[in-house]
Amino acid sequence: PLPRPFRVPLPIPAVARPVRTDAATDYYEIVQRAADQEILPGVRTRVLGYDGTFPGPTLVTRSGRRAVVTHRNDLPGPVAVHLHGGHTPADSDGYPTDLIQPGGRRDYTYPTRQRAATLWYHDHRMDFTGPQVYRGLAGFHLVTDDEQDALGLPSGERDVPLMISDRSFDEDGSFSYPASHHGAGVDDAHMEGVLGDVVLVNGAPWPVLEVAAVRYRLRLLNASNARRYRLGMDPARTPLVQIASDGGLLEKPIEHSTVLLAPGERCELVVDFAAFPPGTEITLRNSLGSGGTADVMRFRVTGRGRDNSRIPPQLSRIEPLSAERAVRTRTWTFRRSPTGEHPGWLLDGRAFDPERIDADVRLGEIEVWRFTSDLYHPVHVHLDPFQVLSRRGDGPGPHDQGWKDTVDLAPSESVDVAVRFTDYPGRYLLHCHNLEHEDMAMMAAFRTT
Ligand code: C2O
Ligand code: CU
Repeated sequence: PLPRPFRVPLPIPAVARPVRTDAATDYYEIVQRAADQEILPGVRTRVLGYDGTFPGPTLVTRSGRRAVVTHRNDLPGPVAVHLHGGHTPADSDGYPTDLIQPGGRRDYTYPTRQRAATLWYHDHRMDFTGPQVYRGLAGFHLVTDDEQDALGLPSGERDVPLMISDRSFDEDGSFSYPASHHGAGVDDAHMEGVLGDVVLVNGAPWPVLEVAAVRYRLRLLNASNARRYRLGMDPARTPLVQIASDGGLLEKPIEHSTVLLAPGERCELVVDFAAFPPGTEITLRNSLGSGGTADVMRFRVTGRGRDNSRIPPQLSRIEPLSAERAVRTRTWTFRRSPTGEHPGWLLDGRAFDPERIDADVRLGEIEVWRFTSDLYHPVHVHLDPFQVLSRRGDGPGPHDQGWKDTVDLAPSESVDVAVRFTDYPGRYLLHCHNLEHEDMAMMAAFRTT
């Protein structure tokens, strides 16, 4: 039986401590291992976890400091680690065939030459990202910097990471993943992606967070394999003030009544609970869900608090990547295979081949990339964030502002983005972040030179 919602306190993933530091670098060690975790009250679920936990430990890195993370694989199968949103040299980017075999280890180097942002790390194993992330291989990696610290945004306990993911459970409490019987991918009934009937936040089902009647910064991450959410507060007495997107601060805050979040995307909000009298319960709801998936979590306002935080009218400056400066336009088509010969999802009519380079891009040049879709596809690009120029020929949508690394494509939609890759030559990926689509080959490789 599913648990009653809004009973379990929201867990906050532990912040990882470096095993050592020197003048420029923080060194971490993470062991990937299986463990039993109580996700549904009174039930044990076997997770594949970074340090045996789901979500994994949160890494916090100052912009400009190097983080070197040694991952040891004590799981039975191979793994690859990708830092989503990381500006990362190619050999540390977790290419799906750069595997850590069972019993092996690998150092991932993150120079962190990037602005403050909410990043996350997760598995990226060739053909098996969906099941491995579903079973727990995901965690936050936050980048901090002086610009953000100077703003006076809510901080400390009032800066809350929220990893949202949906899961289904078998009778015995194990995660229920409909793997196909012939290896990679899922059974035919789940070709569009695996959806769960329980919404977890930081690994807890429909949790509750006690808050003071003050401003909070909520770092929303959609870490679901395939589910999209439209999130809003009920009662909706205070606006959701968006301050940051995938790639960090927006130029100016934007007020929303609801926010749309596709797999892989992040959206940071400041919510002022002073709008509610102590004792009020506010539910974060998902208007795209039904039954259990219509609810996400709850906030319970416990009492008044002192609040020195603020939301400055100007948060940051963002250099526009204008289309006039682009050297070319490239199109990328995200479509299901029209025939039975490849039973999956294709990018530009082709199934991913890790040995093939699908595009060559020069570092420093701006290009327009035009993504077109048949159905919903959250498109993610590695190495550098991009800016949304237009959606269906109109301007960017309400959730397209700032630096993005994942953009939500609706059915039969065309979205133009401006990309510019910098610093690191090598082989990188773009792909659909519906993890089942990704595993069923909706991915391409580009090479930066
Ligand atoms: Cu979050 Cu290539 O992935
Ligand atoms: Cu897709």
